[in-house]
Amino acid sequence: MVKICCIGAGYVGGSTMAVIALKCPAIEVVVVDISKPRIEAWNSDQLPIYEPGLDDVVKQCRRRNLFFSTDVEKHVKEADIIFVSVNTPTKSRGLVAGKAADLTYWESAARMIADVSKSDKIVVEKSTVPGINYQILSNPELLAEGTAIEDLFKPDRGWKAVQALKDMYAHWVPEDRILTTNLWSAELSKLAANAFLAQRISSVNAISALCEATGANVCEVAYAIGKDLRIGPKFLNASVGFGGSCFQKDILNLVYISECNGLPEVANYWKQVIKINDYQKSWFVNRAVSSMFNTVAGKKIAVLGFAFKKDIGDTRETPAIDVCKGLLGDKAQISIYDPQVTEDQIQRDQQPTSPSAVKQVSVVWDAYEATKGAHGLCILTEWDEFKTLDYQKIFDNMQKPTFVLDGRNIVDGEKLREIDFIVYSIGKPL
Ligand code: NAD
Ligand code: UGA
Repeated sequence: MVKICCIGAGYVGGSTMAVIALKCPAIEVVVVDISKPRIEAWNSDQLPIYEPGLDDVVKQCRRRNLFFSTDVEKHVKEADIIFVSVNTPTKSRGLVAGKAADLTYWESAARMIADVSKSDKIVVEKSTVPGINYQILSNPELLAEGTAIEDLFKPDRGWKAVQALKDMYAHWVPEDRILTTNLWSAELSKLAANAFLAQRISSVNAISALCEATGANVCEVAYAIGKDLRIGPKFLNASVGFGGSCFQKDILNLVYISECNGLPEVANYWKQVIKINDYQKSWFVNRAVSSMFNTVAGKKIAVLGFAFKKDIGDTRETPAIDVCKGLLGDKAQISIYDPQVTEDQIQRDQQPTSPSAVKQVSVVWDAYEATKGAHGLCILTEWDEFKTLDYQKIFDNMQKPTFVLDGRNIVDGEKLREIDFIVYSIGKPL
């Protein structure tokens, strides 16, 4: 029996290995992690990540050919194929902080593999790590959170470097979708794919500001341009800004690689995608404060949605962090509701602001509770349930005048105006 060991039981490691175990019953898959609570959660009924479809897949394979363990060295030693799927965040301090990827976790995993291995291994690099020059396979992951299981079942693309890896994917991926490239092409394809997607969002967000200035409606503009087959309709939703652990990190990597290669114009081009994203978040805060008579000091503001997109509980780089920071800076009292994000996580995300900010934030488990007595409500994640709330009931329990700031363009502004809300939607006429 072929044995796979995946180092890193995070969003990528957990979901990818669950799908491999499901699709390849003849392979034994062990996912290992240094984090005991994470592994305990993977072995419990409450998985550490929320991902539609994941529970089912894990239930079918766990303890059959899918295992989760903290005994990292033992399973690395026994494995034929080792996937490395550890975190590679942007460096927060030291040389090239704020740009280069922090490879501490990756290096420590690589050293451990070298130390404990006594037999031949194939090492598959799953993390997004540009420029590592090893004789290993680079197989950067292209799944998106919220659709991870669907993406893994039907991938658009994939990379292979050796037959063993190809054989494994061939259990469920058509051969013409398994692409082989050299190392740099694989890594740059990964970074470029994310940079192009993020660039589309910054482009439509830049247009949304023009729409507000001119009286156009960004949804109509996006729909119209999306009809051009060369442009296509996807990833054209104007928003309060993109979030997630990868878009900004991967663009910063691209910027860093461009600068290292003496290409400052290329670096500046991609930097602009992040600048527009930052602008979009601060523009949203400005809108909120200016519409509420230029002050939100002491006013309760409800925040609906904290995850960086719907159907997940992940808050990494979520625009909600910056929007809340902006509102707290203007001394608002914030009441947050998100169907999947825990109070602990939200409070941790506020920490860097200031200890007093924590007192200005409350986290509740119901949208009606969050909005009770509030002057305004900000929608920051596009959860489906926010479309069907009883807005009349919400209005009746809020202060007057009552503001809705829809950062995801998911509510029907006209209907809310009939109730008497004052509505601001991104890129739409007031
Ligand atoms: P994550 O933070 O959710 O998980 C990483 C896990 O690795 C953590 O549980 C951590 O405890 C563990 N870990 C770190 N060092 C370890 C070590 N030495 N030994 C054992 N375990 C160790 O990260 P993620 O979101 O799964 O991302 C992993 C990689 O995949 C990153 O490079 C990321 O850029 C890339 N990626 C992420 C996504 C996504 O949607 N999250 C998509 C594509 C690619
Ligand atoms: C993204 C890519 O889509 C994946 O292909 C890639 O594998 C992954 O990054 C990665 O490298 O980690 P993910 O970050 O999970 O996946 O989420 P996306 O669906 O891409 O959304 C990212 C952000 O853009 C979210 O905040 C989302 O709300 C925002 N967005 C998306 C918009 O604001 N408008 C849109 O039209 C689409």
